[in-house]
Formats: sequence, structure tokens, C-alpha cells
Amino acid sequence: MSATVRVNASGSYDVVIEKGIMSRAGECCKALFGTCKMVLVTDDKVAPLYLEKVKTSFTSAGYDTVEFIFKNGEESKNIDTLSQLLEFMAENRVTRSDTVVALGGGVTGDMAGFAAAVFLRGIRFVQMPTTLLAMVDSSVGGKTAVDLKAGKNLAGAFYQPDLVLCDYDALDTLEPETFAEGMAEVIKYGVIFDKKLFDLVKNGDVKKDIEKIITRCVELKRDVVEADEHDKGERQLLNFGHTIGHAVEKCSNFGISHGNAVAIGMVIAAKASHNLGWVSENCTDDIIEALKNNSLPVKSEFTAEELFDVTLNDKKRAGGTISLVIPEVMGNCVLKKVPVEQVLEFIKSGI
Ligand code: GLY
Repeated sequence: MSATVRVNASGSYDVVIEKGIMSRAGECCKALFGTCKMVLVTDDKVAPLYLEKVKTSFTSAGYDTVEFIFKNGEESKNIDTLSQLLEFMAENRVTRSDTVVALGGGVTGDMAGFAAAVFLRGIRFVQMPTTLLAMVDSSVGGKTAVDLKAGKNLAGAFYQPDLVLCDYDALDTLEPETFAEGMAEVIKYGVIFDKKLFDLVKNGDVKKDIEKIITRCVELKRDVVEADEHDKGERQLLNFGHTIGHAVEKCSNFGISHGNAVAIGMVIAAKASHNLGWVSENCTDDIIEALKNNSLPVKSEFTAEELFDVTLNDKKRAGGTISLVIPEVMGNCVLKKVPVEQVLEFIKSGI
């Protein structure tokens, strides 16, 4: 089985969702661009699992490859690793005709994408996501970045890939918690845009429909990116659960993972929106049920004041207002601009 979603943003590209496509990566690239050097960027957790397979696929198709392997984890997504990658590319005489391939999860895709965006002012870039979260969200849409000491994703560029290859065979080697993290984003897409998708994943029995689920999420993301590539309006809907989710992540000193924090953030946002009378339907119970069935948490130990403090620090720079994403009815979210100070009341109502 296979599905292809075409994205027409500042760059146009296919997202191919296919079991086993990793071993056809060379062939797929060859159909699009001639032989060149492939800079394979991956981490030390993914490399032992898939690097050899991907490398063989490229060399069999006539490509030269060089490999850059960094330490797995968000701590690596910084200027130091980026700088090492750029120096590595320069030492290996990578040119404008060559290609960066990101093989891994969100960290790899974000950082390799940023390297591709700035090296020689931009070279070709292929995403090969290996986590569910990267397949349904971060590999599509061109957000690339590294973290700074002051916060996550503070240095980056909008830079669309030239091709995305989603081999959902890779999901078989994911730890259940990492798979669940991706499901938080899938549930998010359902609540924001698509009740049918939400209903499909609500009972947690998702593996049998995984190609359909990934494809639907990529289509939804495609629509948002085509409408608002640079995140000035509609794309902000993808932040449902993220404002409070980021606060949960920070309060836990990043001990609570992004997906788990977003799950908690979605519950708070849904409950608050209902309690404040901002929405016509109360989606909270459905969201809680879907999250629980997909092995995701629905609350944290942090108080509204603790969560608000870190939100305030984060958003003060944004001129005093914040756009909250509100589930108007299941499958349709809207943006609501509120003064940052009102966020305390919002969190209190949702906790
Ligand atoms: N992950 C949210 C976005 O791409 O806008």
C-alpha cells in the first residue's frame, strides 16, 4: 500500500507514505534528481537500526554518501551540533548540487533541515521521518530550527523539503511511549480539523489503520501550510494544547515529554473553553477518553499559578496578547486572542 500527498508551498514536493519505502529511497530520489552526494544525518539511536539500509539504497542507485551521526536527544538540537554538521559538510566538499537527508525523528529533521537551509544559502533536503510525530507533523511544512539557551526552536528558518519519505515500518521499533507521543499530535489534528479522524483513533486501536491515519494528518497539515506557510494565522491552529503544553514541559524541566505535555495541554484548553462559555460543545470528555485509550496522560501535578508563571515569561515578548486555540466543536477549532494576564483565569478554569 502507498499514498502520496503533494504539498504546494514556496516549494512543491511529495510526501510518500509507504511501508518499506526506506529501502527504495535511492530509487525515489533518482526519479527526481540526478546523482549527487547524499549527506545522511541521523542520531546514534536510529543509525544502528536503519542507516545501513538507507545507505545501501542510495549507493545502489549510484549516489555517493557521507554520514553525520550525533547523540540522540533534544539536548543535541543546538548551535554546537549544527556547527559541527555544517563544518562536516564543508570538509566533505558538499556543493549546491548535493542533498541533505534527515533520517530520524523531529530533532534530526529540524536540525538537518536548518543545516540544509543555511549551507551555501540552501541546498536540497529530503526528510525520512522514523517517528510517528515526525511523520504526521514535523517533517511536513518546512519548519526547521535549533534550540537556544533561552528556549526551544528560537533559531531557524522556514525551508520546505524536496521530498518526504514516510516508512511506517519504522514505527515497529518505536518504544510505546514514543508512539503514544505521536498519537497526541494525531488526536490534536482530529480535534482541530476532522471529527472522523478523531473517531477513528478514539479507541486506541490504531495500528491497523496507520497508513490512513498518517495520510490524513499529512493532508490536513498540507492544507494548513498551503494556506499559511509562515505561521501568521491559520497555521497557529496547530498549537492546540501547545501553549499550556509548553508550560507543562518547562515546569517539569522537560521531564514530561512534548507529546505528553500537549495531551495535558489539550485537556486544560478544552475544559477551560467550556467552563468559560467560549464554545458551543464540551469536547473535554471525548478528548480525555481518546488520550487515555492511547496511553497518554490527562493531567499534571502543576498548579495554575506555576503554569501561568512560565507562560507569562514565555509570551511577555509577544506584546501582551496570546492566541489560544479553542475547540468550538469536535473537528473545528478557532483562534481567540486574549491578554496574557487572562491566561491565569483560563488555566484555572481548565485544571
Ligand atoms: N508543528 C506545528 C507547525 O508545523 O506549524
